[in-house]
Amino acid sequence: MGDYTNMSAYYDVIMTSGYYNYEEIVQSILSYREFSNVLEIGCGTGLILEEIAKRQPKAKITGMDLTEAMLAIARKRLQPFPNVSLTRQNITQFELEQQYELAFSYGGVWYFVIDGDKEPVLVSHLADDADNHQGFAHLEKHISRGGRLLLGVQGPHHDYERVIANGMKYSQKILPGEQGFTKHYYLADETRTVMAQTIQYRTYGFADARKLMAGYGFEYDPDANLNKRFLGFTKT
Ligand SMILES: C[S@@+](CC[C@H](N)C(=O)[O-])C[C@H]1O[C@@H](n2cnc3c(N)ncnc32)[C@H](O)[C@@H]1O
Repeated sequence: MGDYTNMSAYYDVIMTSGYYNYEEIVQSILSYREFSNVLEIGCGTGLILEEIAKRQPKAKITGMDLTEAMLAIARKRLQPFPNVSLTRQNITQFELEQQYELAFSYGGVWYFVIDGDKEPVLVSHLADDADNHQGFAHLEKHISRGGRLLLGVQGPHHDYERVIANGMKYSQKILPGEQGFTKHYYLADETRTVMAQTIQYRTYGFADARKLMAGYGFEYDPDANLNKRFLGFTKT
């Protein structure tokens, strides 16, 4: 599981200082196809959902996330949009009375890293293999047959530090492990570290990822890949 409580107060300023390109992410999702409902898995502070809600006022939009402090920010941000609902849940136990035509995760519970010409690697906030099975098993029940799952694509992670929009210094450190990697996130002002967060990620090679996901009805569908921002899977 990936608890973002420590980072939550600084999440928006870190991410909107060039970490993610939200404009392109949202454009990709909306360029995909008409949808009447959509689920974001690991919606965080709602930066993506806000843009979708502005542009798709008729769609039923749901965001789910594990971290209450992230959702508290999302609730404020999304309050003007009556078509958005938010739910605090762990994907490993996810239960809602609803099925979706489209679900996506961008940097949320799962995402892909693509390094040049190499095969995509699935990165999961769930460090245990059994939890990944549980997560896909619960997600499976909430995607309608023929529906789509889009998992975001990122470039390879590396250590770096940079000054962000609020003048603080963001840095990250990656420590490779046997079944994934550990990522340390820090934010510092001139005198001290104001935020430190560590997340343990599990990784799966592409063949293993496809096998894992196919076991829960998610078949890789290269036709549903979106502008290199997402890899697409069809729910059989
Ligand atoms: C990097 S943030 C991405 C947030 C958002 N998608 C965005 O683009 O700004 C990852 C989010 O995934 C959530 N998350 C991690 N593990 C989770 C789990 N097991 N169940 C639900 N949400 C989870 C975290 O709480 C965090 O808010």
